[in-house]
Amino acid sequence: MGKGRKVSGGVTRRSFLKVAGSGAALTEVLTGCRPSAEVAVAEEQPQVATKVSVTLRVNGKSHRLQLEPRVTLLNALRHHLHLTGAKPVCDRGECGACTVLMDGKPIYSCMLLAVDADGHEITTVEGLAQDGRLHPLQAAFVEKDALQCGFCTPGFIMAALGLLRENKNPTLEQVRAALSGNICRCGVYTRIFEAVLEAAKKMQGRA
Ligand code: FES
Ligand code: FES
Repeated sequence: MGKGRKVSGGVTRRSFLKVAGSGAALTEVLTGCRPSAEVAVAEEQPQVATKVSVTLRVNGKSHRLQLEPRVTLLNALRHHLHLTGAKPVCDRGECGACTVLMDGKPIYSCMLLAVDADGHEITTVEGLAQDGRLHPLQAAFVEKDALQCGFCTPGFIMAALGLLRENKNPTLEQVRAALSGNICRCGVYTRIFEAVLEAAKKMQGRA
């Protein structure tokens, strides 16, 4: 077949290959229909999601926010309320660094949409210290030196708080089980477990 030979309907092979690189051109070649200007514009423009009104009650205060429905609770806390204690690490429910309490129970805030937290009571690590005094769990982490880089620490503290609200006097095994959804890459698990047991004693007035 010669270079300029026509393949169909007056289109040469060379011109077919030239235009086939773009979607619109390919559509035109294959169907004979030129995409309308409106369709071409619609394809180029990013879709803007509609924002919805969400009221988040965090650490005893209500916050009215306008958020895209896809925003997670973690991102709403960090980017809209500037509460950066809960950390984004895996962002897919595997490490526990983003743990907060919802209605007293530990949850991964990266796995919950902010709209689904509307109407619930959220507690973050920022809500624990009162009048400049650390919560006993926070104080025990300091006392037992239960952190290295500290990136996992807020998540561990919130998971431990969830445990101590349900079980004021846990055993070591119960602490290990309750914190099994949290990962510490620095590997200070032994000290973390000691800190939680120590805090339990202090909160019971046993130490
Ligand atoms: S960041 Fe949420 S579980 Fe890891
Ligand atoms: S102290 Fe570094 S990840 Fe736990």
